[in-house]
Amino acid sequence: MNRYDAYDPFARVYDQHWGFFATKAYPILEHLVWEHLPPGCPVLDLCCGTGQLAAELSRQGYRTTGLDGSQGMIEIAKKNAPDADFVVRDARNIALPGRFSAVLSTFDSLNHVMSLDELEQVFQSVFAVLEGGGYFVFDLNMEEGFRSRWRGSFEFIEEDHVCVVRSSHDASEKTGRLDVTLFEMKGSGWVRTDFPLIQRWYEEREIRERLRRAGFEELQSFDESEPIVEGALHEGRMFFVARKHDAHQPRGERRPDVLKERVTVRDGFFDPLPEEELKSWESE
Ligand SMILES: C[S@@+](CC[C@H](N)C(=O)[O-])C[C@H]1O[C@@H](n2cnc3c(N)ncnc32)[C@H](O)[C@@H]1O
Repeated sequence: MNRYDAYDPFARVYDQHWGFFATKAYPILEHLVWEHLPPGCPVLDLCCGTGQLAAELSRQGYRTTGLDGSQGMIEIAKKNAPDADFVVRDARNIALPGRFSAVLSTFDSLNHVMSLDELEQVFQSVFAVLEGGGYFVFDLNMEEGFRSRWRGSFEFIEEDHVCVVRSSHDASEKTGRLDVTLFEMKGSGWVRTDFPLIQRWYEEREIRERLRRAGFEELQSFDESEPIVEGALHEGRMFFVARKHDAHQPRGERRPDVLKERVTVRDGFFDPLPEEELKSWESE
């Protein structure tokens, strides 16, 4: 199995323009998971990217480990979150010693896993490193998200780099594709890099089925239609929460239904895209 390293050329630019998005998910994660766990417990940020969420988790006192397939992303993560531990590894084969109270994966990282069997491999791998009673929470772009948002192009123009992203999706393949062209000022000249980032979408039903097959229980999922979040989720983004059974707790003693409660998320990830950004997404 090849390690997933497609973000290597993207790391610095990702950190600057997208890295903070995941920190906006913190209140949701707190609501869904952290408030049910002891302070300071061990957590794994799976596909942690440049570690801005790991930095927030460390600040909150969690013993944080970040895992990502991209060496370039991890190098930046180590600087962003000096108190966390990081490992370059593939999510399909986590195989870390020790057990985590929670594993989380934000900002559609698991959409990069390109087949249902491999997604189940990730789920099995997460199950193996979770302690009994531990939580797995992740978000995914769903079909409607690709159909509504993965079209058109946008760009960032900065002093030392220009980044152009053209997005598209293919309903027959259930894939979305970002074609990135990056110009970076290196030394005295501009260096051009072109690379694709490809994602795959899955049905809610098959995701739940694979979570169950991997051993998870107490599955919950919600999208923007759920009243849990004040404001809006990105259209077509769904959160999943799954739990590993705690052998010391009799089955049936479940925690309250968290989706009936509300959490307020301020500015950012979960707000609708700003008008001008929306226009460029739609400008195809
Ligand atoms: C969209 S970024 C999200 C990063 C971070 N979670 C955040 O919220 O900013 C997706 C990340 O997933 C990582 N990734 C994708 N597939 C992976 C895999 N199979 N194993 C490890 N990392 C993977 C990429 O390297 C990248 O850093």
